[in-house]
Amino acid sequence: MKFFIKTYGCQMNVRDSQSVEVLLERHGLERARSEAQADLIIVNTCSVRGKAEDKAIGKLGILAASKREHPERLVGAMGCMVQRLRESLFERVPKLDFAVGTRRFASIPAILDFIQSGQKHVLDVGTEDENFEALTGHEEGALSAFVNVLFGCDRRCAYCIVPDVRGREWSRPGESIVQEVTSLARSGVKEVTLLGQSVMMYGRRNPVWPDESRSPRGFVEPFIRLLEAVCGIEGIRRVRFTSSHPSGCTAELAEAMKALPALCPHLHLPLQSGSDRVLKRMRRGYLSADYRAAVERLRDAVPELAITTDIIVGFPSETAAEFEETRTFMETIGFDNAFVFKYSPRPGTPAAAWEDDVSDDEKLRRNKVLLDDQDQRGRRLNEQLVGNVVEVMVEGESLRNSARWSGRSRTNKIVVFDPVPGCEVGDLIRVRIDRAMPQTLYGSIEKG
Ligand code: 5AD
Ligand code: SF4
Repeated sequence: MKFFIKTYGCQMNVRDSQSVEVLLERHGLERARSEAQADLIIVNTCSVRGKAEDKAIGKLGILAASKREHPERLVGAMGCMVQRLRESLFERVPKLDFAVGTRRFASIPAILDFIQSGQKHVLDVGTEDENFEALTGHEEGALSAFVNVLFGCDRRCAYCIVPDVRGREWSRPGESIVQEVTSLARSGVKEVTLLGQSVMMYGRRNPVWPDESRSPRGFVEPFIRLLEAVCGIEGIRRVRFTSSHPSGCTAELAEAMKALPALCPHLHLPLQSGSDRVLKRMRRGYLSADYRAAVERLRDAVPELAITTDIIVGFPSETAAEFEETRTFMETIGFDNAFVFKYSPRPGTPAAAWEDDVSDDEKLRRNKVLLDDQDQRGRRLNEQLVGNVVEVMVEGESLRNSARWSGRSRTNKIVVFDPVPGCEVGDLIRVRIDRAMPQTLYGSIEKG
């Protein structure tokens, strides 16, 4: 039996799909090269905005209809939208064979057996006893890997469905993460990205390190101890993490960024809004001054730090003047990149009870203004790098032009260059930047 997983949504979803793929292989299934060749297709879904759900429902509908030509084909759904819609997902996609929530991925092989024994429409959205350690498998041969460290989210921002669909925060034991990364390093992985919805909360809700143990550098915060441990694993050259929150940008993080050579100088720090009134209504737990202080603390320690962000435009009651505050604040911080989203009411969240009173046209206008600003700012910041030499991890042929190659800088920028003989995927090379675009740097390899 051949399977294919189609993934929507964030990096956690990408990682969840990878671990389910390994589980299915261990269960005797084979990866299909494409959807068309698959006997089992699973859609990994996202609920963060209405549009993301529409896409997954549309896809599931098409796949369910394809059972007419492929009567043996099984179609399943997994992830956030399953957790939100539960039984009603089967009303919307009547031919769906099974649906598995965010905390039950480890039971997918058992659910498959159940279906093959004749069960129909199996739904598993339990939240207890998830076997997270069954979900640590990785495909061989990768250079870079995602590693889950923290599941769920306890923050409860007013607009966000994530706490409802991903459940309570729970951190994996430090030792088990170190083991996973050590085995990744042995198989050739050089870069890891530690994942959690609010990753800096690692180890705050449940213990992750033995009481009596001490960190070699004397770090106290559980997340910083994790960074230190992972950065110390032989073969791991780059460590990244996402997503961050200003409250986690502590003096210890600043110290760690300075002290740990493998820790990359890039932070994805969602701002959401630059207006204090809107931030309060969003229940983000910080004001613009706190955000700014967090950024300054880290930049003092690591001046080359790149900062990327998420912004929501058109949050209920956001005025044009408050939107302008966001614009100004984004310029003050000088973001390297920004992902801008139009507010989308999510059923059951506190903000969904408030009138969605910014028109869609106005949301679109605000969205476009911020992206245009960011384009100019990105170009300007990147132009400052022209003439500099940056370390690049080689990823292979560039997407746009296969004669050129590309990789990423330690600050997570895409760098395009001409390959030289002997240059291989996974190499860490030095590239002198000679041209800059808003999202991309161009340069040539430095010898030696
Ligand atoms: N509407 C629009 N954007 C949202 N995000 C989260 N919830 C919503 C929503 N209801 C955005 C936030 C978050 C990113 C992953 O998605 O900016 O950081
Ligand atoms: Fe959503 Fe992020 Fe807030 Fe968690 S911290 S509720 S994921 S915006």
